[in-house]
This record gives sequence, C-alpha cells and structure tokens, in this order.
Amino acid sequence: MKKVLSVALLGFGLAAPAFADLALATSKNCMSCHAVERKVLGPSFKDVAAKYKDDKGAVDTLANKIRKGGSGVWGPVPMPANNQVSEADAKKLAGWILSTK
Ligand code: HEC
Repeated sequence: MKKVLSVALLGFGLAAPAFADLALATSKNCMSCHAVERKVLGPSFKDVAAKYKDDKGAVDTLANKIRKGGSGVWGPVPMPANNQVSEADAKKLAGWILSTK
C-alpha cells in the first residue's frame, strides 16, 4: 500500500512539482512546525522566501540549517536537527521553500 501511494505521488509529482515538494516536506515532518502561508512554531515558508530573495547562496545556507538545525534568526525557538533528511532532499526542500514567495 505504501509503495502504491509513493508511486502515485511520484506520478503526480511529475505533473505538479510544487505538490511533490509539499509531500516531501510533509513526509519529513517539516509541516508539523511550518506552514507555507502562516507562522506555526517556525516561520512560514513565504516569509523565509521573502527574507532570502536576494541571497544567491540561500539554497546552501538553508539546506545546511534544515539538516543541522539552529536558532536565533526568527526568534528564540530553535529548530532541531533533521538528521532524517539527506543532503539532496535538504537542497530540494530549500529550493522549494525559496519558490513559495
Ligand atoms: C520542531 C519544529 C520544527 C521542525 C520539525 C522543523 N522546523 Fe524548520 N524551523 C523551526 C523553527 C523554530 C525555526 C526558526 C529558527 C531560527 O529562528 O533560527 C525554523 C526555521 C526554518 C527555516 C529558516 C532558517 C533560517 O535560518 O532562516 C527553514 C528554511 C526551515 N525551518 C525549514 C524546515 C524544513 C525543510 C523542515 C523539515 C525537514 C523543518 N524546517 C522542520 C522549527 C521546526
């Protein structure tokens, strides 16, 4: 069943990349602390995209932060490390987040 679902998501993803990356973020647990449009525990992804819109190194900076966690940019609440996310997936997620503006 799980396999069938991921194949379905993959097929969908080819037609709708934004949806596929939301599915990736959901599967990596990001959406329990983040939302695209509003602040939850962490900043909204639209706010992140706006903050880094002129930063050419943002994909690498954010991918690194996604994997290692960190604090102090958006407030006192830290983001824990997300060790379950591969470097490639972290970059994919960072690129998607930056495209949500
Ligand atoms: C336990 C809650 C939690 C989870 C799970 C979480 N985050 Fe965060 N995230 C935060 C908080 C809190 C911040 C703000 C940290 C700060 O102020 O530096 C943050 C910040 C961020 C930022 C902005 C970083 C910056 O330096 O501006 C990005 C991008 C981000 N998260 C992406 C993700 C992604 C992608 C995932 C899933 C792999 C994820 N987060 C999972 C809580 C979380």
